[in-house]
Amino acid sequence: MTTPSNVDGSQSAGVEKSVTKKPFYIFLGLLVLFSITTIVLGAVALGILINRINSMNTENSPDDNNKSPLFADQIKMNDLMHHLEQLQMIADQSNGTRAIGTRGFNDTLDYITKQLEQNTNLIVRHEYFTVKNCVVQGTPQLKSQINGLVEDYAYLTDFAHMLFSSGANFDSFVRLVSIPNLGCQDSDWMSVSVTDSIALVKRGVCAFPDKTQLAEKYRAKGLLMYNDGTASDRFQVVQYVRGHLNMTIPAYFLSYNLGMKFVNASTNVNIKMKIDVRDAEGIGNICADTSTGSKTKTIVVGSHSDGVLDGSGINDNGSGTVGNLVLALNLARLLETTSLNYAQFSYRVRFCWWGAEEVGLIGSIYHVEQALLPSATIESGRLQDYLLYLNYDMLASSNSNFGILDSLSVPPETPEKALPGSDRIRNLFQQWFNDQKLPWSQSGMSGGSDFVPFLTGGIASGGVNTGAGGIKSANERDQYAAILGIGNGGLANAAYDSCYHQQCDRINNVNPFAYEKVVKAAAYAIEYMGRLNDLEKWLYPQGRTMNVKLFNKNQFYDIHHDPDLF
Ligand SMILES: *[C@@H]1O[C@H](CO)[C@@H](O)[C@H](O)[C@H]1NC(C)=O
Ligand SMILES: *[C@@H]1O[C@H](CO)[C@@H](O)[C@H](O)[C@H]1NC(C)=O
Ligand SMILES: *[C@@H]1O[C@H](CO)[C@@H](O)[C@H](O)[C@H]1NC(C)=O
Ligand SMILES: *[C@@H]1O[C@H](CO)[C@@H](O)[C@H](O)[C@H]1NC(C)=O
Ligand SMILES: [Zn+2]
Repeated sequence: MTTPSNVDGSQSAGVEKSVTKKPFYIFLGLLVLFSITTIVLGAVALGILINRINSMNTENSPDDNNKSPLFADQIKMNDLMHHLEQLQMIADQSNGTRAIGTRGFNDTLDYITKQLEQNTNLIVRHEYFTVKNCVVQGTPQLKSQINGLVEDYAYLTDFAHMLFSSGANFDSFVRLVSIPNLGCQDSDWMSVSVTDSIALVKRGVCAFPDKTQLAEKYRAKGLLMYNDGTASDRFQVVQYVRGHLNMTIPAYFLSYNLGMKFVNASTNVNIKMKIDVRDAEGIGNICADTSTGSKTKTIVVGSHSDGVLDGSGINDNGSGTVGNLVLALNLARLLETTSLNYAQFSYRVRFCWWGAEEVGLIGSIYHVEQALLPSATIESGRLQDYLLYLNYDMLASSNSNFGILDSLSVPPETPEKALPGSDRIRNLFQQWFNDQKLPWSQSGMSGGSDFVPFLTGGIASGGVNTGAGGIKSANERDQYAAILGIGNGGLANAAYDSCYHQQCDRINNVNPFAYEKVVKAAAYAIEYMGRLNDLEKWLYPQGRTMNVKLFNKNQFYDIHHDPDLF
């Protein structure tokens, strides 16, 4: 702090003596200005630091390392938007989709991998699996023959294929049999002879996969399920209705009108189906681990890497994919740059990107299944080494709320001992949003995203999302406006993401304000828990139980995707 006074002295002397030395004095003047700026900036930085220390003290944060930069402060909106633009370009080069089985998905995995490998020393690992019958090639066909009259139907207007439908290429017409009631009971199927015929069944009461399973059990040769016309949105064809995994028969979902036409024609209908499907091979999960911290005490942070077929998937879930990437890149930089003096965590942090979430959480379920096998290693992941799971899926909805995952609803298989920790994670997020003067809402955990297999496996879980196809109520809008300011509560009676699972889920569908906040909240949560002395005790005050029995995967399907499971 000696420079300013020296400069002051020579300047005041010089000004009186000579005008020829003007450039020199301008230089000196700039130096003074620079010095003052430096001092002011220094003071501001000091103020921030003092504020931080104060806020740490008041929050009773376990972080007692004053010099440590804050993880949340590293999260920059520009970084988030930059990587999202890259995903948009990847989708644009792949016919507008990043769904599994497309080049857009593969390019997404390559992008994540390259970013991690080029910019960090995180240990990157891939695991690959196959999703059967996942990719449809060409346009599926449906023909009927009613009283000798042959008709051809329009794909996506009259019918769509059901996900996991097997392929078919009937060389002759096959008799159609209408299943009484809703085809949920064995007795419905036993009352008619459906063997080697096509079954026609109305949606409703039991889950889609259950009906496909019954159709196979009673040896139908194919299945046509039709919409039930019980509400204005239950007449059309619905795309990507899921059958069960491992389906062995072809299955289509029909509009209500086409279904009724077949019902009306009763016993005189014959059907031809033609559909070409193939397996999606080499679907990958990526996980990237910090090299420090105990491997038997791991914090897992996950999001999905795939999009749906009918859009670029930029908010869903490009925003989660990129949010997770920006978290990984910044935490790696903090931990790996010694000059930053960032205090190391005692826990390993593992960032994962799950493939095939959109078709039924297949990537995350695969990972948890592998983690339960006796052959699982610490490196590949053993469920017992995972302390908690944080999920980030849909972080930038245009009409967002801040939905903090909450154990108010959980899947029925969830062990009790996973709940206290999940509640503490929820409290942590609630406290952060309160401190930031931001509103928040509760978001149930009974289904909807990749936390399901972890939570049911017994791992305390949490996270934040900004809303999918659900509707923001006037009440919620008003609550948000009361905190964010009049006019900032968003649109009432409109979807959180009006482009949810649609073509328009593009880069301009993103809400940067909400996005930055959620990723900062995520950074805060990781840092807070990473600094706790005994995270395991904090999460599991009554000890842990691992749920090792295999769950029924079909029941986790419809989640945040198709709001109607039935
Ligand atoms: C895009 O679609 C066209 C026509 O369906 C197809 O020929 C092409 O291979 C597709 N490109 C990619 C990258 O999937
Ligand atoms: C599908 O079948 C394969 C092989 O028959 C089996 O290993 C796998 O567990 C089955 N998956 C489901 C979900 O039933
Ligand atoms: C089916 O029959 C009912 C009753 O006869 C009739 O109201 C309806 O329009 C018919 N629907 C179709 C699609 O043919
Ligand atoms: C994506 O990558 C996997 C694994 O390398 C490969 O098997 C698959 O054919 C690729 N798919 C496309 C559409 O490029
Ligand atoms: Zn989705």
